[in-house]
Amino acid sequence: MVARALAAVRRGYDTVPSPNIWHWPEVYETENRAQDADGEIWRVLGGLVDWSGRDVVDVGCGDGFHLPRFAATARHVTGVEPHPPLVRRARARVAGLDGVEVLAGSAQRLPLPDASVDVVHARTAYFFGPGCEPGLAEADRVLRPGGSLVIVDLDVRHRPYGDWMRVDLPRYDTAEVDAFFARQGFTNCAVQTVWRFASRDDLAAVLRIEFSAKVAQRALAEVTGLSLPVGYRVLHRDKPTGLLT
Ligand SMILES: C[S@@+](CC[C@H](N)C(=O)[O-])C[C@H]1O[C@@H](n2cnc3c(N)ncnc32)[C@H](O)[C@@H]1O
Repeated sequence: MVARALAAVRRGYDTVPSPNIWHWPEVYETENRAQDADGEIWRVLGGLVDWSGRDVVDVGCGDGFHLPRFAATARHVTGVEPHPPLVRRARARVAGLDGVEVLAGSAQRLPLPDASVDVVHARTAYFFGPGCEPGLAEADRVLRPGGSLVIVDLDVRHRPYGDWMRVDLPRYDTAEVDAFFARQGFTNCAVQTVWRFASRDDLAAVLRIEFSAKVAQRALAEVTGLSLPVGYRVLHRDKPTGLLT
């Protein structure tokens, strides 16, 4: 599944296939609830960027799982999502929350004016490495000077999850992805998280939407309890505040 997504970004397709959340949104909700159980990613994001009282856009917001968290302190939050059923689900999730909207759009064509937001956030969406340059340029367009782009993605260097990913993604080149984002001016923070599930059935269901059948079976056998460590990279770069002289 991830292989198709990476290939789509490299080929410049407008929408990157995301079978996990497109076909199994309820299981993906279980996954989102299990992810980052101890809040490490949020802790790191909070140390990099202050979004309180600011305007935030979540690119590839899926069904809007992260929007309420931003909305708790931000001035305004916009979720942008290309898959129409997820746009509808995200709108239903945030209905009744002040200062939150969900727009149809993509990373390459954000439906927002120039210099209109302070923080662009994307989590496991579109920004996977080489090929995502149009989205990086678009994020720069909508950011105000001094604004921040933060990208959260899985890191295949961390075991055991990364080992399973590499079986399904034999051509994925971590060093190439790191070098790409470094060339684009990002800092890269490795974050170790824990995914914690309520039951083995939930764990199995999530592994099945993330991996090929064979790898999911192996992964389930290798996880003995209800939790597993999963590594991420959190990438960050600020838009310059003015012209360099
Ligand atoms: C794995 S899901 C993650 C969703 C959400 N960020 C989350 O963490 O719950 C990836 C999302 O990226 C969306 N997506 C696909 N192509 C995209 C593009 N070109 N620009 C922005 N988002 C895209 C998919 O429709 C899907 O909702």
